[in-house]
Amino acid sequence: MTSPVIEARNIVKSFGGVRAVDDVSVSVMPGEIHAVIGENGAGKSTLMRILAGVETPDSGSVRIDGKEIENSAKASIDAGISLVHQELSLIPEMTVAENIMLGAFPTNGGWTKTKEMKKIAADTLKEIGVEVDLDERISRLSVALRQFVEIARAVARKPKVLILDEPTATLTPAETDYLLSMLQRLASQGLAIIYISHRIPEVFKICNKVTILRDGKLVTNDSIGDLTPDKVIDQMVGRELHLDLTQRRPARELGELVLSAKGIKAPKVNGIDLEVSKGQIVGLGGLVGAGRTELLRAIIGADPRSAGRVTITSNGKKRVITGYLSAIKAGVAYVPEERRTDGLALTMTVAENIFLPNRKEVSPTGVMPKGKIAAFAKDLSEKVNLRPPEVTREAGQYSGGNQQKIVIAKWLGRKPSFIVLDEPTRGVDVGAKAEIHKLVKELADEGAAVLVISSDLPELLELSDLIHVVRDGKIAGTLTGAEATEKSVMSLAAGEKLVGA
Ligand SMILES: Nc1ncnc2c1ncn2[C@@H]1O[C@H](COP(=O)(O)OP(=O)(O)OP(=O)(O)O)[C@@H](O)[C@H]1O
Ligand SMILES: [Mg+2]
Repeated sequence: MTSPVIEARNIVKSFGGVRAVDDVSVSVMPGEIHAVIGENGAGKSTLMRILAGVETPDSGSVRIDGKEIENSAKASIDAGISLVHQELSLIPEMTVAENIMLGAFPTNGGWTKTKEMKKIAADTLKEIGVEVDLDERISRLSVALRQFVEIARAVARKPKVLILDEPTATLTPAETDYLLSMLQRLASQGLAIIYISHRIPEVFKICNKVTILRDGKLVTNDSIGDLTPDKVIDQMVGRELHLDLTQRRPARELGELVLSAKGIKAPKVNGIDLEVSKGQIVGLGGLVGAGRTELLRAIIGADPRSAGRVTITSNGKKRVITGYLSAIKAGVAYVPEERRTDGLALTMTVAENIFLPNRKEVSPTGVMPKGKIAAFAKDLSEKVNLRPPEVTREAGQYSGGNQQKIVIAKWLGRKPSFIVLDEPTRGVDVGAKAEIHKLVKELADEGAAVLVISSDLPELLELSDLIHVVRDGKIAGTLTGAEATEKSVMSLAAGEKLVGA
């Protein structure tokens, strides 16, 4: 009988009053793909950081091949544990090869052996079947390629246990499939894999065992065969959840035109016209790298455009958008893709983050009573189901999915006339995702014009009244709500003929 390669026993970790991990034990066999799932803030990332020795538990132990290891990053790496963090941790100004070998440069009396470094990096990329130029700087790569470089870095250390914290959050369906089969191949060679995801179908596709966490506690530790997706979701949430994630908006009459964008050109955007009306939700589909984020940023003036004209009409007033500031004045709210860098001040409190863009709404006189700020922030945090709803905590102390909710909350207070969302539920758990969908639809019902990018096809279909599919910086096709299916969107995105769709 084989024994577990990694075994965590009775791990406990508190932050102030919050028990992030509460007496959790988990073990993984060689060749096993073990899912760890749970709602935002359930304690998944904290537990993984403890296994990787970058967070110190209050109590509990970690064993590799039956032997207890010390709690330090070095001890974990030496014992063969590699963690791919939830947030990308590459150094943008360094090359692919340097990043893969980060922290493990082969040296010769203090000098980096460049040739040897490149060889190991090249071999690793080959092993995982990813093609990318070793000398390219990370800052020039797509998000998906960065994710694969991150994985290469973990694999280059020849680990016994590979931990991936939401690796598919930034990937398209095709890239995700590629990653999943890569993991199956690595597991078949004996690697133990711990896999975190909010996407339940992925878990059922590749995992052998499932550990479910709720509020830091272990709920189950089951073989996949004993579970169904419904059972998993109920156990994650701790109550029966009746989600209908396929509920589309009923067709409606178009209101007045809010956004008019004509002939937009910018890097990666090759001449696009776009309109969004009051009460309408327009979706942008396409592959990662197709130019959707670039288009959206060029429209709202967050990045310069080389050609084109944009106007936004709100409250009967038409304004020409020349830059981001004029867009904000015209009532634009922008929820960016990269929330950690673009969307939040991590060292400020939740209340401050929510209050800053809403100063005028809270306090037209400029006087800002603390209680009022807190009440305003609390109300919005409850709307997005922030957990815990403690607005005096620093934003950086919240789990990844909860940070996304803070970014959304901060824009809701403005009652925007035009709201632009880039991958709004990336990394958000199933329950909160349904809440955010409801909110976006409510905003549109109340009269906002909405433009949303999503690589999550069911989400795109559920939210959008109209979908433009972007390919190579152009609109490859437009589908009305009734015409749109996962298949029709994907074929347009990939540039294939519609077969039987
Ligand atoms: N550095 C920290 N300081 C204070 N609290 C923290 C810190 N890190 C995590 N927490 C808290 O610990 C709990 C667990 O967070 P964790 O990041 O492990 O959740 P998660 O399951 O990974 O969630 P997600 O799906 O959103 O990534 C949360 O309540 C979080 O706010
Ligand atoms: Mg996490």
